[in-house]
Order: sequence, then structure tokens, then C-alpha cells
Amino acid sequence: MPIKNLLNQRLSNAMLAAGIPADCQPVLTLSARAQFGDYQANGAMAAAKRMAKNPRALAQQIVDNLDLNGIAERVEIAGPGFINLHLSATFIAEQLQYDASTESVERPSSRVVIDYSSPNLAKQMHVGHLRSTIIGDCIARVLENRGDHVIRQNHMGDWGTQFGMLIAELERHLGTEKRGDLALNDLEKFYQQAKRHFDEDSDFADRARAYVVRLQSGDEHCLALWKQFIDTSVAHNLDIYQRINVGLTAEHVQPESAYNSQLEPIVKKLIEQGLAVDDQGAKVIFLGDLADKKGHPSVMIVRKSDNGFLYATTDLAALEYRAKTLEADRILYFIDARQALHMKQVFSAGRKAGLVTSEVSLEHHAFGTMMGSDGKPFKTRAGGTVKLADLIDEAEERAAQLIREKNPDLNDDEIIDVARKVGIGAVKYADLSKTRTTDYIFDWEAMLSFEGNTAPYLQYAYTRICSIFRRANVDFETHYAAVIIAKPEEKKLALKLLQFEEILDQVAVECYPHVLCSYLYELASAYMSFYESCPILKADVDPVDRSSRLQLSALSAKTLARGLDLLGIEVMQHM
Ligand code: ARG
Repeated sequence: MPIKNLLNQRLSNAMLAAGIPADCQPVLTLSARAQFGDYQANGAMAAAKRMAKNPRALAQQIVDNLDLNGIAERVEIAGPGFINLHLSATFIAEQLQYDASTESVERPSSRVVIDYSSPNLAKQMHVGHLRSTIIGDCIARVLENRGDHVIRQNHMGDWGTQFGMLIAELERHLGTEKRGDLALNDLEKFYQQAKRHFDEDSDFADRARAYVVRLQSGDEHCLALWKQFIDTSVAHNLDIYQRINVGLTAEHVQPESAYNSQLEPIVKKLIEQGLAVDDQGAKVIFLGDLADKKGHPSVMIVRKSDNGFLYATTDLAALEYRAKTLEADRILYFIDARQALHMKQVFSAGRKAGLVTSEVSLEHHAFGTMMGSDGKPFKTRAGGTVKLADLIDEAEERAAQLIREKNPDLNDDEIIDVARKVGIGAVKYADLSKTRTTDYIFDWEAMLSFEGNTAPYLQYAYTRICSIFRRANVDFETHYAAVIIAKPEEKKLALKLLQFEEILDQVAVECYPHVLCSYLYELASAYMSFYESCPILKADVDPVDRSSRLQLSALSAKTLARGLDLLGIEVMQHM
């Protein structure tokens, strides 16, 4: 059991024994400074307030009832009633041994549907899709790792009015060149051309509009063109996922068009339920629970007056599919914060219509925008959207240059491999390490730095441990020895290692990858301090100490690698 859970359990028991109501929490946190112990419990103050008692006296009563025999070596009360817990080094060493020798504990597993990446297929993937793709992928990995049944859903935008224009353009190419595949090589250029024709050529525009209608009514010719376009676009996206080590494949694609046959029945049901009503020819749902300050209900259109369906209608169908067919316990959406209202509407209407029961947790995990150094959304120098493919190329090029400078001994193949891991890792980590909900500034220099909270710093820490094992001529995968904790740096590192599982528990619930990043950064820093003050390979080190320190090193390397893998970042032996 994670130490935090164990301490919480013991503290709760002590609080009950001290006569404190059962719903008062111990409020256990990591101590900010060593002088305050390893953990501190701050719940005495709130409990005292509730019971109109003196907080310090109540803290004392908790401590009197607290059984931390063999767990803590010292328990102190500080300030107005903080309870500081200093864990025993022997206990930490034992736990580490136990942790290292057993498989992770069995937890009840949930079925979790995760909607992430979900780009629109009309255009090439661009930086705007990066955050959803990598944050969603990280959470999918974390949940899968703790034993949940994760069902990835790539809700690709493959339907809508733009596709009339795109297939009209494709037909034009096929007619003249009979080589549509060539024209689709550069999707961005293709989209621009289609748009230009649409804007400048009224025949083309009419044809495009007619094609939308024909497409929707299942016309074979239009569907075939549409399919050719979609296949090319999907293949391009799958290629990007592979390049950035994101675990989305063809089997996770469940695009908007997959719900086409459900849209009509859903709207019919909403009307029968009296939820959707007629409003100027459209069908709308008025959501009183989402009313604005003046009391005007929030309006959600589910069918336009021209009978067309909307993004929201598709999301309602997807919600029902996820809840009923996929039998999800949790449904997570990694979508830009600007769609917050849309998600609230979908959740509210979905619950009211019984598309999803109240037992299913619906979670929109929003994120901010990636900004350029000018503080505006990240763009190319010319002001265009940055294509993901170009961003990946640049990351790899910059990393290759850096690696070549730092390590002239690597051959060309090694440089390509390391540069890919470092470059992609840097871009992903720069994003994942920022609090998800805020905007952040995209900065090549900072993300590729070997110092500070960056991917290269963590990857480098890993390679340093690898080199210690090479010099010791020991295989760290199989090394096993008892851990002895004598120095404060050993204790600090050992405790950090033990906290990995509780960090993963937290990330699994809150879905904030930066919590895992901060943890790994602290772990790497704790390792560096340990390494400075606790020699490992020096001739005068006692063999028992050496083995113990190698054990701490091996666990550090494994935890770094596991943590980075959960972020979708690879490690290497040399860099
Ligand atoms: N395709 C949408 C966009 O690019 C994102 C879709 C997110 N998922 C969803 N179920 N609405 O904005």
C-alpha cells in the first residue's frame, strides 16, 4: 500500500479515537521542508474549528492515539496544530525492498473511454492538435498501467460541409490528371486550392454544395471520392502518431461519420421526451441548469432548420455509444478549453435524455493554448498554422545538432536515434510539464536545455545511471541488494522512489500530467544530490554500501524510465 494511504489510515483511526467526527479528514501532504518531517497532517485545525476546541490540544489528542510504531521515528506538533511525521529510515528501507520485490497491487479496474487527438480530417494535422494528442495519450498510458480497461476513441472530424468542397476538388483532379493520390500528397495545398475554387468559381461552389447533400444521402460516387480523401488524411495522421510515439492506431479511429445513422433517431427521441423543441424551424434544447447570470437558459441546437445535424448532435450519439455499447465507467474528453460550454451542454442534455446514467463519470479535461514567444497563439514566421509534421522535423533537427555538439563519439545512426528521442521528448515534456489548464509559451531553447525541468535533463539522468552500471560491470535490470539508509540524501531518494505509486494514483484521478513530470524532476534531482554525497564506485566504499547504493540507483533508473514511458517519452543508454 502506498505510504500515503497507510498514514491516512492510521491518522483517521487516531482522529476517531480522539472523538473527532468521521467526516473530518487528516489532510495529509508532503512536507515542504525537511525540518517539518516527511509528511504533515493539517486536519487538526479544521476539526478543532468544527468542534470549537483548541487546535493544538486536539492535535495532541490525535498524536496520543496515533499508532505509527515501526513507521515513524518522530511525531511533532508545530505551529497552530500541524502534525509533522518523520518516517523511520528502517521502515523506508523495508518498504522499498518490499516494493521492489512484489508486483503492483491489484486494484478494482474501471472501463475508461478516452476521447483524444480527434483532429479534423479536412486539413493536415497542426500544432493545435498537439496538446489533446499527447496529454490524452499520457493519461491513457497511466490508466492502463494501473489496470484500467482503456478504450481509446479518436473522434476524427470526417464529416461536414467542407467535404463537399474537398470532393469537388478531388473530382477535378481525377478528371484532368486521373491521379488524385498525387494531389493529396500535400493536404494543406489541396485544401487551399479547394477553398480558392470555392470562393472564386460559382459553378464549383454550387457543385460543392450539391455534393454535401448527395454525400449525406449516400450517393455512391460522392462517397467513393470522400473515402479516398479520408483514407489519405487518416494515413497521414497515423504516420504522425507513430513519429511522436503516441499509441493511437487505425483501430482507435471512431470518426464522426460512424454516428451518422444514429443522428435521426436521437433527435426523434429528444423530441418525444420533450427535451428538444421547435425554434424557428430548428430543433433546440434549452438547458436551464446552464443558464447565464440573467437566467437565460443555454441553447443547444441539435438539428438545423435545413434539417442538417451538428457537431453537438454527433457528440450526443457518441456519448450514448460510449456509455451503453462500450459500457464505460468513466468517459474522459481531452479537448481545448474553448469547447467547455459545448461539453457542458452535451453532458447535461445527455444525462437528461438518459443517454448516460448518473453512475458514469463524464469529465472534460480542458487545456489552454500553445503560444509563441510573442504571447500570441503559436504560428509560423509568415503567420500560418504550424503543421505538426514540420514541427517534428524541426525538433529532430535541433536535437541532432545539440547531440552532435555534446557527444562527438556517437555515429550517424546513433545520432538519428537519440535525436528523435530527445527532440520529440523535449516537445512533449515541455507541454506535459505545464499545468494543463493554462496557456504556455513554446520555447525551443528552454525545452532542449539539459538543465532544469526538461526531458533532456531526465533522459540524461537516466543515461548517467546506465554509465555507472557499465563502469561497475553490473546489470541494473537484475541487480538486487538490501537497501541501507544512513545519509539524509539516501533517505530522501528512497522516500521519493516510494512515492511513485501515489503520484500515479493522483494522476489517474485528476488527469494532470504535470504532477508526474514534477515528481520525475524531483526524483532526478534527489538522485543527483544522493550521487554527490554518497560515493558508489570509489575504492574505499564498503561493498555492502556499494550494493545498497547500486540498488537505489537501479530503482531510480527504472522509475525514471517507467515514468517517462507513461509520458510517452523514450530513454536511451547514451546521449
Ligand atoms: N474535431 C474536434 C476539433 O478539432 C475535436 C473533437 C473532440 N471530441 C469530441 N467528442 N467533440 O475541434
